Amino acid sequence: MRVQAGRRPGLNDLGARREELCGRLVVAGVELLAPGSNDALRRRRRRAAARQESREQDGKREPEPQDPATNITRRMDFDLTPEQRGIQALARDFGAEKIEPNAAEWDREHRFPRELFGDLAELGLMGACVPEEYGGAGADFLSYILVLEELSRADAGVGVTVAVHTSAVTLPILTFGTDEQRSRFVPPLARGEHLGSFALTEAEAGSDAGSLRTRAEPEGDGWRITGAKQWITNARYAGTVLLFARTDPETPGARGVSAFILDGDHVRVTRDEEKLGLNSSITNDLVVEGAVVERDRLLYEEGKGFRVAMATLDGGRIGIAAQALGIAQAAFDAARGYALERRQFGKRIADFQAIQWKLADMATEIDAARLLVYRAAELKQRGEPHTEAGAKAKLFASEMARRQTAEAIQIFGGYGYTKEFPVERYYRDAKITEIYEGTSEIQRLVIARSILATAENAAHFPRV
Ligand code: CAA
Repeated sequence: MRVQAGRRPGLNDLGARREELCGRLVVAGVELLAPGSNDALRRRRRRAAARQESREQDGKREPEPQDPATNITRRMDFDLTPEQRGIQALARDFGAEKIEPNAAEWDREHRFPRELFGDLAELGLMGACVPEEYGGAGADFLSYILVLEELSRADAGVGVTVAVHTSAVTLPILTFGTDEQRSRFVPPLARGEHLGSFALTEAEAGSDAGSLRTRAEPEGDGWRITGAKQWITNARYAGTVLLFARTDPETPGARGVSAFILDGDHVRVTRDEEKLGLNSSITNDLVVEGAVVERDRLLYEEGKGFRVAMATLDGGRIGIAAQALGIAQAAFDAARGYALERRQFGKRIADFQAIQWKLADMATEIDAARLLVYRAAELKQRGEPHTEAGAKAKLFASEMARRQTAEAIQIFGGYGYTKEFPVERYYRDAKITEIYEGTSEIQRLVIARSILATAENAAHFPRV
């Protein structure tokens, strides 16, 4: 199905395109193809294999993609696959039609657009990179990152809702869960029937997440969980809560922590946070008041929950970097459009070098961030180490988004400071990307630990 020029696709069109797309998506290099839809993909793979074979025969074997000493990806391929471009267009069209026109109102009214996530689920975008057998669209991780970028370009609050739901809840259950946990908890999340929430942070455990105090005490064959969590995205609407609690009170720090899969009604939301921006997302305080759970709610091994949290955040940070990128792209689009229209001193402000240089810097920094984000996503997709690459992507993309959304306001001048234009919202929304899923300071710490690791202590930087 093609979208005609000059006409925005309707939701039904998008649904049909999603059907068309989902037949052709691949996840982690494993084909999950609908019957009869895979010939072109196979032909492309055969051609790529033949090219590689002939290069090898010529003695021109491609270098290993990864330089183990510097953790820098050597193989460079900047093209998105047709599947990735397709899902990117799907998310972009949906964002332009269903999200962006409402974003200012949701921001002003602090409204969480719960109904929107049903529409996103219909398109497969609540589980974009979840295999089809678990109710997802079966796309790869980079496709999911493209979705987050596009949704955040339309509205960053929608972006973070989907990012936490997917990266911080659905994917860790897929990665660390038993077969039973995967089949039981993932499909309702991937189909968007449940929203997911990730409950790690506490009032006294922010950057120092390992000092959390929520406790899980033995009770029968399971645990009784008691504690309080703070700044929890999606909690008020969550059907599934991935919650971290201390199972070993004798071991301080990260080692005594375990991860639990709770239902929404195991927790009680006590407050909706008031925020600077991201007003279409929901952020809560919650308490767990002696919720009793069986062993089947323990995710991964007892006492290894902090590893689950850290590995989850390694991937989650790539999603937040994509969110920052989407916000910056939206700010650039708005600033460029305005500069081409606004006239002062008898000409368009885009004709002044002062404005041209700002736009040139914006475009350059957005490009640089995009390369870091896509590289990190690609590494994760290939199952390669991505802790450092993800931290670099988040660090750069978030600081870039804060800088460049401020520049967008500057280009708009007085209008930029008003609610008449979206750039002040972009600026408010961008700021949080430097804070959640690890502050910029924590990203620098993670990067520094990685680049200073020696062969002997590299084992302390686990790659999950
Ligand atoms: N992958 C897997 N395991 C890891 C890991 C990783 N990337 N990094 C560390 N670990 C393991 C370590 O190997 C160690 O395991 P063992 O004890 O078994 O050896 C354990 O985790 C503890 O590691 P550290 O000693 O390095 O832990 P630390 O106390 O020094 O903390 C930190 C490290 C990087 C500072 C970490 O606390 C951190 O990332 N803090 C920031 C917290 C954060 O990002 N919070 C975000 C909240 S969620 C959110 O914001 C979501 C939202 O709403 C948008």
